[in-house]
Amino acid sequence: MTITNPMPQIGNKGIPREGEGGFSQCWFPVALSSEVDKGRLVGREFLDGRVVVYRGADGQARVHSAYCRHLGADLSVGDVQGNDVRCAFHNWQYGPDGMCSKIPASSKRIPRQARLFTYPVAETMGLIWAFNGTEPLYDPPAFPTHPVEDLVFQVQETRRWKVDPYMLLTNSMDFQHLRELHGMKMEHDPADIVMEGYQYEYEVEGELPNFGWLHQRVRCFGDNSITLTMTTREGAEVMGAFSGTPVPGGCRGFNVQATTRSDGTPEGDAKTEQILFMSQALMVQLQDEDAPVMDTIRFREDVLIDADRALGKFFRYVRDFPRAHPGDGYIN
Ligand code: FES
Ligand SMILES: [Fe+2]
Repeated sequence: MTITNPMPQIGNKGIPREGEGGFSQCWFPVALSSEVDKGRLVGREFLDGRVVVYRGADGQARVHSAYCRHLGADLSVGDVQGNDVRCAFHNWQYGPDGMCSKIPASSKRIPRQARLFTYPVAETMGLIWAFNGTEPLYDPPAFPTHPVEDLVFQVQETRRWKVDPYMLLTNSMDFQHLRELHGMKMEHDPADIVMEGYQYEYEVEGELPNFGWLHQRVRCFGDNSITLTMTTREGAEVMGAFSGTPVPGGCRGFNVQATTRSDGTPEGDAKTEQILFMSQALMVQLQDEDAPVMDTIRFREDVLIDADRALGKFFRYVRDFPRAHPGDGYIN
């Protein structure tokens, strides 16, 4: 006798977690620019391991694997020497390219293997970003409407998230949740979602509680970063961005607020401050509303309906996104 389960089958279990088959090849924020002054060195969790972020005498930020190639001391307890980082244990030094440049106890040739993994680095929007690869596949995130020099930024690290960054970005394509969870009044879902290479973009308008009507131009980079350029009914332009960085157990999050520079008058300064405040309040409102769900979700793509069309497109985008782990063995 065959026993049949009367319950319908459970659908697809969803996109693999970060770390399975590598990590997404994205630009990931590793530190706030303001945390890494010239000559400073900080250690940060990154992917399934740890990196050091430092700024040498030339002012350039750099990101290397954290563990010394001699005996594995954590370089974040070392110091910066010129443009090199120096290990606290036996004072081996590593240059900007990650190659060991000095071993005080030896006059012999430096072993070729004495090299750290060096991530490509960019610094923009008040953040230091590392690209998970040997060469970046795309440019670091930017707001589509203004060159970076014309903007002022404010940036904070958010709470820790238990999910991978792509899960937080899922939000951006989940129009059903914008309505139901965030109470956004929207007439239509955006029909034109332009996906190109390693980014996608769309425009949407609607009314959000505590914020009012707004038109949003949304651009996502990789599967971890989103920039929102919002125009209110009064014509104020409010810009905000979020980016997530995988770390063991989930991800770190970073919120960025931006606006055009003040004209230097007291009214101009007050307006700039007000817009930065609005942008921050909006991001925090949305994230606070998402947090209870994101902290407890057991993600799966199970029963999808018509209203999830854009979401399905996003899931495919993430599933096809390249993954790699070139720092494996070095950072962990
Ligand atoms: S462990 Fe770093 S120099 Fe020995
Ligand atoms: Fe959300």
